[in-house]
Amino acid sequence: LSAFFAPKQLVGQHLLVTAGPTFEAIDPVRGITNLSSGKMGFAIARAAREAGAEVTLVAGPVHLPTPRGVRRINVQSAEQMLMAVEQAVDAATIFVATAAVADWRPALASEQKIKKDGSGEVPALAFVENPDILARVAQSPRARAGQLFCVGFAAESHDLLAHATAKRLRKQVPLLVGNIGPATFGQDDNALLLIDADGHRELPHASKRVLAQQLVADIASRLRAAPA
Ligand code: CTP
Ligand code: CA
Repeated sequence: LSAFFAPKQLVGQHLLVTAGPTFEAIDPVRGITNLSSGKMGFAIARAAREAGAEVTLVAGPVHLPTPRGVRRINVQSAEQMLMAVEQAVDAATIFVATAAVADWRPALASEQKIKKDGSGEVPALAFVENPDILARVAQSPRARAGQLFCVGFAAESHDLLAHATAKRLRKQVPLLVGNIGPATFGQDDNALLLIDADGHRELPHASKRVLAQQLVADIASRLRAAPA
């Protein structure tokens, strides 16, 4: 019901959001991944849709229901996530990166299951760095021209403000959102730190649903202040 009365602050906008972890194959039965429930990204997709935006959700492997009215694209790896984002981003006016993208992937995924050979020897895995999806999107001409508002997330284990401030500058995004407090993986609530060029403010402890609504309202007010 609250959604019905929510102000339609994002009518005419198209929000693209990444959510969940990525999964990087080692062989057909194994891989490496990150801890991420996807709940924050799905909550943002839902809140943005309820605020009147068109919403595209690029989701890594998570078992969460698709919010009503949201276009969902499922992916596994960071490279697939990048491809899906590149296909959808031209239509978007807002990009929110909540995904916990694996920073590295096995350099060569084996086509066949790697077998123990009985000698006790362990396989040596070589890794390569994955593309930084947020940084690429934030450096695109439309983002630089102010036609695509980019928002990053950061989960840090310590020194959140310092690390997240540095990350905002490194990724060249106007808004970076830090997860406050101990690991919030899989929890239904959280607290957020919003960092922009002028400083920072806290969205105090609340459900991810409420935080997503507050973040959507914050983004909407930024777009009103500086229309594309
Ligand atoms: N991100 C991304 N693609 C990547 C890595 C990160 O789009 N390959 C995005 C995340 O979705 C998040 C932001 O960048 O919005 C910050 O991710 P994070 O993992 O905190 O930052 P990194 O730059 O990867 O640095 P590190 O993991 O070393 O802290
Ligand atoms: Ca990372």
